[in-house]
Order: sequence, then structure tokens, then C-alpha cells
Amino acid sequence: MDKFKIQGGAALQGTLPVSGAKNSALPALAASLLTEDEVLLTRIPQVKDIKTMEGLVEYTGAELKDDGGRVTIRAANLATPEAPYEIVKTMRASSLVLGPLVARTGRARVSMPGGCAIGARPINLHVLALEKLGATIEQSHGYVEAQAPNGLRGGAIHFDRITVTGTEDVLMAAVLARGETVITNAAREPEVADLAELLMKMGANIQGAGTSTIRVQGVERLHGAEHAIIPDRIEAGTFMLAAAITHGNVLITGCVTEHVAALTAKMRLAGAEVTEESPASLRVRCASRPLAVDMTTEEYPGFATDLQAQYMAWMTTARGISFITETIFENRFMHTQELARMGATIRIEGRQAIVAGESVLTGAQVIASDLRASASLVLAGLAAKGETAIDRVYHIDRGYENIEIKLAAAGALIERVK
Ligand code: EPZ
Repeated sequence: MDKFKIQGGAALQGTLPVSGAKNSALPALAASLLTEDEVLLTRIPQVKDIKTMEGLVEYTGAELKDDGGRVTIRAANLATPEAPYEIVKTMRASSLVLGPLVARTGRARVSMPGGCAIGARPINLHVLALEKLGATIEQSHGYVEAQAPNGLRGGAIHFDRITVTGTEDVLMAAVLARGETVITNAAREPEVADLAELLMKMGANIQGAGTSTIRVQGVERLHGAEHAIIPDRIEAGTFMLAAAITHGNVLITGCVTEHVAALTAKMRLAGAEVTEESPASLRVRCASRPLAVDMTTEEYPGFATDLQAQYMAWMTTARGISFITETIFENRFMHTQELARMGATIRIEGRQAIVAGESVLTGAQVIASDLRASASLVLAGLAAKGETAIDRVYHIDRGYENIEIKLAAAGALIERVK
């Protein structure tokens, strides 16, 4: 099991390039199942979750070729419209194939995702939405079995809580349903809009993706397309915070500055200097300790829950006490115990973490628990005095492409130990 060894204290300099967004590449790969024509996706990040989804796409019967981020998929005949437990248990986003498989083949058998470190993470809202499009869905033996032998028909879907992959799943089903579908209280994440871009290139008729109300006119069939995945806003935000916590001066390139607007505003309030050098690059400088600034996670365009742990790591070094509230997941403070072992003082009261500032972080042996918690431990290690060893870095490899190589190129003293 790989570890990261980090010598803290080096201020990051130079540039940090951002890869394609994992959470946009995952639905895009699922969307390729909606047509028998070839789909070409570029800027696909080489991360573990993508390999898992590629394996699932092939399992259903599609042909797939991935040469270093350029991926072609041809789902000519989907002999096995299923997502088996052994794949889904490693990645819950496998439920993204549910909508496309039902829409394309009239049936789907998808294992229920187990919970994960950050919460129960059910898919009840995905199921309810697909039933509104006429699918009949049984849940037994840990599987969701969906049938739509006569195809799907358009419907009115209101999500009683915002769900990103729930919105994406039902959007991918609605594009082939007969008639109009209206989705209200839809997720507005950029990854939803990016998926709609791909679907429209494939011939879908969609209005309003990226807003709370999405209208879809179903079509008979979709054709092939070529699409470049948007940059990963969570990787970009992680790098912005890495620059700040190490008192560095870094240019983050190949990002979409608008997608990190909530973090940018917080960082400026806390005293970091964030300048947009172009719509695709941001320079971050932070010579001193930040001011403590409270933060509450919210659905996009609010502050991303996927940046909460990384922001908390920064706030442990702040001047003052900050209150961090997590509203999206019920158990997303796993990183606080590990940060405490590095010298942070954090108290959890329900959904709120009270973070004491002025912590002098010291290197320690810590264990990664989930993807973004691991990223917060890397940031703390970069700032801590002495050496930090992070175990179970496979959590990081799920969502960050060569993170230690990119950080080392910007001056971080970090290496992967097999
Ligand atoms: C997506 O997960 C992301 N994953 C997550 O990123 C991200 O943290 C999350 O959205 C929130 O932004 C992908 O896009 C692959 P939700 P998703 O459905 O869609 C509850 C990462 O680090 N809910 O928006 O699974 C759910 O339990 C990952 O890259 C239901 O109750 O999140 C949660 O409390 C982690 N029933 C809330 O809604 C459902 O049917 C929001 O979840 C679906 C969700």
C-alpha cells in the first residue's frame, strides 16, 4: 500500500496544472452507453475512479479504448446491462449507468451502493425520478432492477433535495424518453452542464442545464460525438489552498475561474491574494497567516463540500476561531481526528466544526479515510514542521492525477513510497 512522505515548510512556487474533472468524466462515460455510435472523450483524468467506470462500461458490453486520457467508446450492443456488486462497492458513482441502461436497453440491474466513509449515500431519489419516467423498479438482494420494456415516457420530476448524480442519472434517461421531461430543483453543478453539453452534441434536446429547472424533449436516438471534459474545480481549489497554506506564490493553470468563485471569495476575505490572470488561470499568494473566516458548505454555486476538509486544514493556521458547517453529508469530518494528531484543535458539534486557529502543525503518521479528507492531510503536511507520512493514499489516487508529481514540480518536498 503506497504512502506519501512529506517534509513540511516549503513554500510552493511555479505552476500547478489542473486535469479534467473526475466528476464530469464519470457521467460522460455513462452517457456514451446511450448510442451505438462511437463517442470520443478527451481530457479524461487518469485516476482510479475513471478506471473503475471504464471497467463497468466494458462489463455492459461496450468497446472502450483509453490512450492516456483520450477515450473512445462504442456501445454497439449492450449484452449485459448490469453494474455488479464487486464493481459498485468500490465506487458508488457506478449508479450513473442506471439511467442510460434503462433508456437504451429497457432494463438495468445495478447493485445498491454501500455507504461510504462520508455517509449513507442512498440512491432513493434516483429511483423515484426514473419511476416518474415510467420505469418499474424492484429492489431486492442488494440490487435495483429497473424495467421499461416499452421505453420511457417524459414526466415532471421534482427532487425534494438537490442531488448531483441523481440529476445526471435522470437527465441521461430523459433524453431518450418519449415526450417532454421537466426536472425541478435540479443540481446546478458545472458537471451537470458539461454532461448536457455532451448530450446535446449527441443530438439531445435540453434547455436549462446548470439551472434549477431543466427541460428535455426526448428524441428517438442519439449519435456519436467528441467532447473535452471540463477542468476539475475541486483539484483547482485544492491547489489554491495548497499555495495559501504554504505561504507560496503559485499560478494554477487550465482551470475555470468562475467554477471556484465561492472559494476565491472566502480566500480573499481571509487575506489571501487571488488574482485572475485569465479566465483559465489564477495566481494565489498568501504571505501571512489567514484571518479566521467561517464557512458553510452548500450546493453549487455555494462553497463545495468537496473543498471543506482542505479549507479546514488552512483554517487551523488562521488568526482566530472559525466555524465550519457541513450541510451536504452527515459524516464528513473524518479528517479532524487526523488533523488533531498533527496539532490542530477542532471540536465537532453536530454539523459544525469549531476550529481553533494559531495551531503549530507538526508532522505525524496519519491515515487517509476518504478522497477529500486525504487531500486535507496533504495540505497540512505541506505546512507542518517536520515529516508527515500519509498511509492508504489509494484514497487520493481515486480523484487526483499524479498529485505528488504536480506538487513536487511546484517545490513541495513530497514523495510516494511504495
Ligand atoms: C456528487 O456525489 C459527487 N460525486 C461528490 O463528490 C460530491 O461530494 C457530491 O456530489 C456533492 O456535491 C460525483 O459527482 C461522482 P448528492 P452525489 O447526490 O451525487 C443525499 C468526490 O469527492 N442523497 O448530490 O452522490 C446524499 O446522501 C465526491 O468527488 C439522498 O438522500 O451526491 C447527500 O447527503 C464525494 N438520496 C445529498 O443528498 C439520493 O438518492 C447530496 O448528495 C441521492 C442523494
